[in-house]
Amino acid sequence: MKRSNIFPRHSNYILPTAIKGEGCYIVDNNGKKYIDGSGGAAVSCLGHSDNTVKDAIINQTEKLAYAHTSFFTNEPAEKLANLLAKISPSGLDKVYLVSSGSEAVEASIKLAKQYFIEIGKPKKHKVISRRQSYHGNTLGALASGGNVWRRNFFEDLLIETSLISPCYVYRNKRSDETEWDYGQRVAKELEDEILNLGPHNVMAFIAETVVGATAGALTAVPGYFKLIREICNKYDVLLILDEVMCGMGRTGSLFACDDEPVIPDIITVAKGLGAGYQPIGAMICQNHIYEAIESGSGFFQHGHTYLGHPIASAASYAVLGKLINDNYPSKVKEKGNILQESLTRSLGQNQYIGDIRGRGLFRAIELVADRSTKEPFPKKLNVAGKIKKKALDEGLICYPMQGTINGEIGDHILIAPPFIINENEIDEISEKLKITIDSVCNF
Ligand SMILES: Cc1ncc(COP(=O)(O)O)c(C=O)c1O
Repeated sequence: MKRSNIFPRHSNYILPTAIKGEGCYIVDNNGKKYIDGSGGAAVSCLGHSDNTVKDAIINQTEKLAYAHTSFFTNEPAEKLANLLAKISPSGLDKVYLVSSGSEAVEASIKLAKQYFIEIGKPKKHKVISRRQSYHGNTLGALASGGNVWRRNFFEDLLIETSLISPCYVYRNKRSDETEWDYGQRVAKELEDEILNLGPHNVMAFIAETVVGATAGALTAVPGYFKLIREICNKYDVLLILDEVMCGMGRTGSLFACDDEPVIPDIITVAKGLGAGYQPIGAMICQNHIYEAIESGSGFFQHGHTYLGHPIASAASYAVLGKLINDNYPSKVKEKGNILQESLTRSLGQNQYIGDIRGRGLFRAIELVADRSTKEPFPKKLNVAGKIKKKALDEGLICYPMQGTINGEIGDHILIAPPFIINENEIDEISEKLKITIDSVCNF
């Protein structure tokens, strides 16, 4: 076989070649169809063949492909920013358009730092985040996340970040406390850490509103984010919510924080923002943060070549238009319940399933060796890796991950299908998952 010139993610796998997208399916060059149970990595919210988005890309390409943002603004970027500001939580009005989730997070960290310089608090520089979180793979974003295995090789290149507990009910809530009390206990860790570092040093707390790939669709308990917000206010610490994975309708509201409810100082989105048709992300910040820059040095000391890309913006504007006009958030809520029921029907009694959780079309299945003790599978069995391979053989794309509990052990499967999915397709995912899990976990 001809050796590929692609530098691949993994050297030891031979991957099928995707040649076509049809609704919720991807087709390879042998004609095999794969149902996209995870939208790749929670990206393809409108499936793989949306004509409105395709047309928007073609139309914009015919008008203007690119104009550098230090010389020009452009219509699609202006329209997209305007729409994002309209639908964002209150006060989040300034939109910085980038090309990925990691870029959005990098921008948010730099903005936090520059903001405190502009308002005369230059000492503030520390970031606090949560264990079992992921905020991207560029060095700043990687440093601000708590994903152990992704950080491992690069630890000595990463700026120091403090990590507090995630809000992880299935594993960490004690039997003698209510969900509310558990949430208050883990949120309180933020205050302890701010005091430990010195409030004058701390600039930001960053968290995924619903944790994605690292721990598998972890939703916060009621009251958790309210207390987090109060603590951030008390110590003048910016709250950055990373909705790169969970935002843009994925959990049943355009922004996952709409359901908490909590309003951050900065929010990051990507993935579903371009729905896979174009690479695009956004960092959206509160007016007062932008105004500190405007009335201070007058420029944000950051930038990339492809900021506000016209074609990416036009595609994203079409995606968002569809999400809003076709009322996808409420459809996602309904379909999410159907997905949860379908997974529970197929897998609820399965001896290897510890927990089925999540919100909207953002669900995860945590796998266990023993349901009664919640004992995970040993790391060396590589259950997640085997599930990914077997599922693909079965014609199912899902997003399994190892390290659910602490970055080392535990396995889960993330399910995040396109919002256009129907009930039969939901059942197809559940059935293929059942076959896959039964075959892989039966050691
Ligand atoms: C929550 C979160 N933040 C940031 C990122 C990084 O996004 P990207 O891969 O587009 O750089 C991801 C990617 O999975 C993510 O899930």
